[in-house]
Amino acid sequence: MENFILSNGLKIPAVGTGTNTYGKEENQYMGKLNGDFSALNSAIKAGYRLIDTAIAYRNEAGVGESVFNSGVARAEFFLTTKIPAGDEYIGSKELARQTVENSLKNLKTDYIDLYLIHFPIEDENKLKQTWEVLESFVDQGKIKSIGVSNFEVAHLETLKKYARIQPAVDQIQSNPSLWNQELIDYLLKNNIQPEAWGPLSKITDIQIKKIEKIAANYGKNWGQIILRYQIQRGVVVIPKSHDPRRQQSNLELFDFSLTGPEVAAIESL
Ligand SMILES: NC(=O)c1ccc[n+]([C@@H]2O[C@H](COP(=O)([O-])OP(=O)(O)OC[C@H]3O[C@@H](n4cnc5c(N)ncnc54)[C@H](OP(=O)(O)O)[C@@H]3O)[C@@H](O)[C@H]2O)c1
Repeated sequence: MENFILSNGLKIPAVGTGTNTYGKEENQYMGKLNGDFSALNSAIKAGYRLIDTAIAYRNEAGVGESVFNSGVARAEFFLTTKIPAGDEYIGSKELARQTVENSLKNLKTDYIDLYLIHFPIEDENKLKQTWEVLESFVDQGKIKSIGVSNFEVAHLETLKKYARIQPAVDQIQSNPSLWNQELIDYLLKNNIQPEAWGPLSKITDIQIKKIEKIAANYGKNWGQIILRYQIQRGVVVIPKSHDPRRQQSNLELFDFSLTGPEVAAIESL
């Protein structure tokens, strides 16, 4: 597995697994929790070590259980979770502290590799106090890296004013319906690691046909081409699949390189 290096010098795997439908009935995001984490177990078996969960997914505890029981050393994992922007989680510093402590408990770990603010907190005071709480967990060694998700340039510029520790990551939507190139350029320039959520979503059949032409040059499938494209432009990807074969294929991205014209064709999908 290749890694990117975060602004604090720590490594982040270039590919991780999303988890937002794991442990849920009918693999639905809003589905009832059913305790079935076989998809995560097979992802870990396939070699995924970056595991992306969130309090909003309601499955932190099950994710923690799978990681804990995997037989793989904790140090090999890169666990990400996210604090929601709602007042019940970040309404006061004490609430934010409790929220983070709960994540540690749910994930059955004494440190979390990456803790993100899931969505922009529009109230500047609350943003500032939440960030200070996250910074204090970094100081204690209970969080290794802190970052944000779904932050646009303006949100990042606001946070910059308060941050003693600058955000290491911005997890944003990036897929053929919205490559988000401008924001990614800003992030790369400001030493904030871009991470693409929904990397295999929102793609049309016509786009798939075009990508399959490129894929044929390498004996790869369209998903691998999309993921390779993101990695080649410096973006971490967290594809999610419930199918062990697709989980495996989404890891096989490091034995080929896209050419300049291929990259240009993908950019202009
Ligand atoms: N920060 C945020 O606001 C935010 C928002 C959304 C998501 N996320 C995170 O990002 C992760 C990934 O996003 P996502 O789960 O929405 O979707 P995704 O990774 O884009 O995957 C979408 C669908 O593509 C299918 N798929 C996977 N690999 C494939 C392949 N090689 N070929 C064809 N189809 C393939 C999967 O279905 P099968 O199961 O049938 O393979 C999956 O349901 C989430 O799980 C979550 O952790 C974060």
